[in-house]
Amino acid sequence: MSHSPLLTELTVRDVDADDEAEVRDLVVAAFGQEAEADLVYKLRHCGALVLEQVAVAEDGRILGHVSYSRVTPRAIGAGQSMQVTCLAPVSVWPAYQKQGIGSALITASLDRLKAMGEDLVLVLGHPAYYPRFGFDAALARQVTGPYAGNAFMALALTAAGRGNLPIEVAFATPFEEFE
Ligand SMILES: CC(C)(COP(=O)(O)OP(=O)(O)OC[C@H]1O[C@@H](n2cnc3c(N)ncnc32)[C@H](O)[C@@H]1OP(=O)(O)O)[C@@H](O)C(=O)NCCC(=O)NCCS
Repeated sequence: MSHSPLLTELTVRDVDADDEAEVRDLVVAAFGQEAEADLVYKLRHCGALVLEQVAVAEDGRILGHVSYSRVTPRAIGAGQSMQVTCLAPVSVWPAYQKQGIGSALITASLDRLKAMGEDLVLVLGHPAYYPRFGFDAALARQVTGPYAGNAFMALALTAAGRGNLPIEVAFATPFEEFE
């Protein structure tokens, strides 16, 4: 991995099978440990991923990665039919952080989720980072599950995502091992 500044145009595209090793190296480097890369692997291979995308430089290098996994509403009533996902994890190569790659990747992938008909996106992340994409801790207080607090945020992509709350949710099984 070269550590030169980002000089090229970024493309956001879906992950393909050939990207797996490069994505793993990126996620390990971003977090400085293997746990999040293992989580991505388990989510991918248990079929829980709804969307997995990478930010790619002009020369094909993968500089960023994001995955979204299925969250299951447990509510009885309107909320039960909502399509809910969880953003986790998101990674940018350390040498390329704070250049807008994470923002470009998250913005593009949220647009894609909206086009796919997803209603609500949840994230457990830094309260200073995710509100810029519209994530809101107050909205997430209407979502009952294993997470709570200011780091637990929600973004409604549809009127149903805003309106069919409160709901109770369950996350994909690999998150239980991750905690
Ligand atoms: C979080 C991450 C994906 C952001 O990607 P990025 O390309 O660096 O982000 P951008 O350049 O789009 O945005 C930079 C902004 O994010 C902020 N930011 C980055 N990581 C942050 C963190 N952990 N907490 C709070 N703010 C953070 C920066 O301070 C900067 O803020 P500013 O715009 O107000 O100056 C990247 O820093 C990363 O891979 N971090 C390590 C892994 C991680 O912690 N992932 C998130 C948890 S799932």
